Amino acid sequence: MKFFLDTGNVEELRAAAATGVLDGVTTNPSLVAREGRNFKELLLEICAIVDGPISAEVTTMEQEGMYKQAMELREIHSNIVVKLPLTKEGITVCSRIAPQGVRVNVTLCFSATQALLAAKAGAAYVSPFVGRLDDISHVGMDLIRQMRQIFDNYGYATQILTASVRHPVHVVEAALAGSDVATMPAKVFEALFKHPLTDIGNEKFLADWKKLKA
Ligand code: E4P
Repeated sequence: MKFFLDTGNVEELRAAAATGVLDGVTTNPSLVAREGRNFKELLLEICAIVDGPISAEVTTMEQEGMYKQAMELREIHSNIVVKLPLTKEGITVCSRIAPQGVRVNVTLCFSATQALLAAKAGAAYVSPFVGRLDDISHVGMDLIRQMRQIFDNYGYATQILTASVRHPVHVVEAALAGSDVATMPAKVFEALFKHPLTDIGNEKFLADWKKLKA
């Protein structure tokens, strides 16, 4: 399973990348706006930190504008994956650019029918937002399970990128459901490393080691 960091913050990315277990990055307009930096410069810096798929999202909902932005984004760096919204326009643009070799991450996916459309349009990734579904009393992880079964039924190569991950249990459940990728904020990534019994065990080993006389 691949781990992506869901952030536009380069300090968070440097720290996560140093562990050697980070596979890629997702950004969205809200995360980029939080950084207050030029989008292209920020993307280039992210690409220099993480050698993997870096999702960059379009910011227009109109088809021709979306197509133009998508082509501009993919020119920035070979690792850029163009993020398109799961609207009729987004799916149409995906169908146009995927055959040209542009990798697309179709985002804001909230149903199995939407996921099926992204797969049919040739998206490299589709991002179901589990946390936002949980927020409105739907079991977000049910969608991941449905998508896995549907994609396997038909042999779709589109990767399931579980997004809107809020805690480590989302990561575990996504892995159990066969999600290809989980993208998460830095605080969730950090939490994956932690277990109190690891800390207690280390304290005891070090305390015992200090008692060694030989
Ligand atoms: C994914 O690509 C999105 O940027 C992200 O996971 C959204 O998460 P949120 O629902 O916590 O904003």
